[in-house]
Amino acid sequence: MTENHIIVDHPQTRPGVMVIRFNRPEKKNAITGAMYDRMTAALHEANKEASIRAVAFLGTEGCFSAGNDMADFMAYAMGGGGRPTAADFLQALATCDKPLVSGIDGLAIGIGTTIHLHCDMTIASSRSVLRTPFVDLALVPEAASSLIAPRVMGHQRAFAMLAAGEGFSAEQAREAGIIWKVVSPDAVERETLALAESLAAKPPHALSIARSLIRGNGDDILARMDEELVHFTKQLRSAEARAAFEAFMSRKG
Ligand code: COA
Repeated sequence: MTENHIIVDHPQTRPGVMVIRFNRPEKKNAITGAMYDRMTAALHEANKEASIRAVAFLGTEGCFSAGNDMADFMAYAMGGGGRPTAADFLQALATCDKPLVSGIDGLAIGIGTTIHLHCDMTIASSRSVLRTPFVDLALVPEAASSLIAPRVMGHQRAFAMLAAGEGFSAEQAREAGIIWKVVSPDAVERETLALAESLAAKPPHALSIARSLIRGNGDDILARMDEELVHFTKQLRSAEARAAFEAFMSRKG
């Protein structure tokens, strides 16, 4: 079943495009370890294959992703250990050298929001909400969001999002510079795929150079991911985080 929770597709009608789709709508596309692994492998494939010229992340109707699976967080908190597979995914994301686009319709929580900080262009539907309740879960920002968000949005908006856990509407996120364009819900998929296709059709070498000039070498981003990970994994095992996960798991009675 798990394989179907991430669908990796190379649509024939969109030459050069790899689509990575969250497909676990019954759990609001919450991301498990196996799902991270599948996405990591897909990003490695995108880097290796010259025929893949752009990668598009999509979710399902009304939901991009509710972030990391809470049961996985709980398992880690209860004594699981090692390097979380999310860390490998984030590294693959930050070092992917193909253009990355994403399309959000609806919920984008936790890593469901921070993933877009690594995308080159993101389209969101007008009903989308981006939220990172890290601190409310007794966790800390990840995905180098503590570095990228203040750079892009300024301190106040980054703090509001990453520390205060304030939700951002699609329009607020666009104004803050973390979203390229807001469209109607029925247009998200079409526009995201068309964008990926148009990037895939550009002269690849020139686009690749332009992209690295715009993004920089990324060493600071990888270093910040490592720094965040130390705090994140420590906090995952804290009593305050365990209490927050338990509250989520038992909220329905
Ligand atoms: N991990 C695991 N399961 C999750 C999940 C997550 N991050 N988010 C949602 N789900 C599951 C719910 O447990 C529920 O499963 P169930 O039907 O078996 O009980 C199902 O998805 C639907 O979610 P539900 O909470 O009933 O829907 P809702 O519309 O009332 O609320 C959310 C949706 C996303 C606002 C709410 O589920 C939520 O806050 N999820 C946690 C988000 C989060 O904190 N992520 C981590 C960020 S670091």
